[in-house]
Amino acid sequence: MGYKVVVVGATGNVGREMLNILAERQFPVDEIAALASRKSLGTEVSFGDKTLKTQDLATFDFAGWDMALFAVGSAATKDYAPKAAAAGCVVIDNSSLYRYDPDVPLIVPECNPQAIHGYSKKNIIANPNCSTAQMVVALKPLHDRARIKRVVVSTYQSVSGAGKEGMDELWDQTKAVYNPTSDVAPKKFTKQIAFNVIPHIDVFLDDGSTKEEWKMVAETKKILDPKIKVTATCVRVPVFVGHSEAVNIETEDFLDEDEARDILRESPGIMVIDKREDGGYVTPIECVGDFATFISRIRQDSTIDNGLNLWCVSDNLRKGAALNAVQIAELLGREVLKKG
Ligand SMILES: NC(=O)c1ccc[n+]([C@@H]2O[C@H](COP(=O)([O-])OP(=O)(O)OC[C@H]3O[C@@H](n4cnc5c(N)ncnc54)[C@H](OP(=O)(O)O)[C@@H]3O)[C@@H](O)[C@H]2O)c1
Repeated sequence: MGYKVVVVGATGNVGREMLNILAERQFPVDEIAALASRKSLGTEVSFGDKTLKTQDLATFDFAGWDMALFAVGSAATKDYAPKAAAAGCVVIDNSSLYRYDPDVPLIVPECNPQAIHGYSKKNIIANPNCSTAQMVVALKPLHDRARIKRVVVSTYQSVSGAGKEGMDELWDQTKAVYNPTSDVAPKKFTKQIAFNVIPHIDVFLDDGSTKEEWKMVAETKKILDPKIKVTATCVRVPVFVGHSEAVNIETEDFLDEDEARDILRESPGIMVIDKREDGGYVTPIECVGDFATFISRIRQDSTIDNGLNLWCVSDNLRKGAALNAVQIAELLGREVLKKG
């Protein structure tokens, strides 16, 4: 006996990856439904070696389905996730709508799997922001060993984090640079993204930070420890897939760089590639399609007593979204629903 699984937003970047990963990891699926908006009705999407025809979210009946992996924006999630949850189908949501709700667990299975039991208050589980997910995977084992006090992070986030329209904009603008007769004005991003970087993701807040930066602060606290202070600068870069982060960490106890490297090597979900030579580190293009969070450039920060620097790279559509959601589905199955 397996599960009846719904993928909501199946025509999008994250939804397509969810279908790929469910198939790759041989998630025990009895029946699967792919949903999107009415305009995509009948659009074909792949699930392993099968092809599914997309159904309309607006008319779908969630009764009798075990879990729904949502990858639509907050607006559609607000309309449909409560309906799915009320019908007894557990929602695993990728939008930011429920992440800060105290009655909804926010889970990265490598970090806080025990939080899964909180799902029953609303029948909803939240998936973190892509930039948070990969960072907390790296922080968790270091926090367990040396208690992290403060994190300073700068991100280099790919355009796929802004959905398929973000990828199209980078592609079209890049082509336009070589074809002076066409001009592609910024639509999804606020400035030209091709051959450029933009220090602005999501909306501005009153204190001058952006919502993306605030998410990293709030989500790290909820997943790992409310005492950890985080300050972030989030930057969009002209990379299609794969987010990178330069992370500076201050701990309560001293942690030697070699010990930190050994700890990270042994930790779940992490691959350490850290040779101090040309090319001895990972770049985003190398992490695409992989499950791991890659850590490179591990080194002491000698400007403070207990400081470390590292470089963290992961496929934002996988660990940052679809993979984490499927890992939550696996955890839910293992710990709660117990079928399959
Ligand atoms: N990309 C990332 O790295 C990332 C990471 C973490 C979380 N997320 C979150 O995951 C969600 C999806 O992101 P994405 O990158 O996959 O976006 P995307 O590529 O733009 O895809 C959006 C998907 O949502 C569907 N959709 C939109 N409005 C809908 C509606 N009213 N009713 C039914 N379906 C609707 C679209 O269907 P149509 O094709 O029919 O329009 C499409 O399948 C967002 O909430 C995003 O914030 C993304």
